[in-house]
Amino acid sequence: MRVPIFTDEADQAGGWHGASLQQAFAARGIEVVFVALQDCVIDLSDSRPKMGIPSFDCLPTMAFVRGIAAGSLQQVVTRLNVLHVLGMLGVQVYNDAKAIERTVDKGMTSFLLKQAGVATPATWVCESRHVAHSIIQQQIASHHCLVMKPLFGSQGQGVRLLTADSPLPVPKALFVDGVYYLQSFIDAGDSYHDFRVFVVNDEVVATMRRSGAGWLNNVAQGARCVSESDRSIGLLAIDAAKALAIDYCGVDIMRDQSGKLWVLEVNSIPAWRGLQSVSDVNIAQVMVDDLIQKTHA
Ligand SMILES: Nc1ncnc2c1ncn2[C@@H]1O[C@H](COP(=O)(O)OP(=O)(O)OP(=O)(O)O)[C@@H](O)[C@H]1O
Ligand SMILES: [Mg+2]
Repeated sequence: MRVPIFTDEADQAGGWHGASLQQAFAARGIEVVFVALQDCVIDLSDSRPKMGIPSFDCLPTMAFVRGIAAGSLQQVVTRLNVLHVLGMLGVQVYNDAKAIERTVDKGMTSFLLKQAGVATPATWVCESRHVAHSIIQQQIASHHCLVMKPLFGSQGQGVRLLTADSPLPVPKALFVDGVYYLQSFIDAGDSYHDFRVFVVNDEVVATMRRSGAGWLNNVAQGARCVSESDRSIGLLAIDAAKALAIDYCGVDIMRDQSGKLWVLEVNSIPAWRGLQSVSDVNIAQVMVDDLIQKTHA
């Protein structure tokens, strides 16, 4: 059997993550093919819809989504449509297109967490620069710092802290793509850290504490990883995964100085290299086995 791994690193055989997935599939007798979503063809020329996937003569039973390359809105919609169509043609897509859509922008993720009653910091999403500035001014006047993030997050890039010392109005160039995503800053105290929990099928696979040099704790920004086993962090991550109805995800959590835990975001295409370095569980294998089990359920 052969399974496509959709990746934005198809030319590098999926990179480190591709290699660990390839091994995990091979352990179950399954061969993988690295495919870029933009190389697929939605073919509606026949009586029945077809999907052209490079190197596949017929539809696979399952597909793993490891990366969706950035592009224009039209390109991203088309790439997501490829995943939607595959799902509708009976392929077990992991994570499925709807779950990816729910988490691809931080605004929808925050809404779904809030609606499900999962603790997540106060958040505002708007397009008006004027409205964004009054929110910033009000919050700063009430001594609440804010974090401004790009709607489509990327490993800590473009995430900014707004404090009483930040110049106002915030320079236009700092706003990303005309959408203001503003979130209350969770103050974890002097030892900067947050938690990353990997959840598969509503169960915790591994948890780490990430300690950044500054308040940004992304591994891509140089944070140090240490294994963590706090049960309450895991339980909150499971609640977050359930709120998003997602097969697997990486949940970012912070604890404030009063001890309360908050979900910052949920990633539907999380990296796990840093986490794997501090975990004994084979994370790729847990995902692959979950996908196989769901395909045959
Ligand atoms: N509300 C907040 N309060 C304090 N620190 C925050 C807050 N939001 C984010 N951070 C810090 O910034 C880091 C990056 O933010 P976040 O996880 O929301 O986006 P991202 O990692 O850039 O996005 P993605 O994971 O989708 O690439 C977090 O790991 C955390 O250290
Ligand atoms: Mg993050």
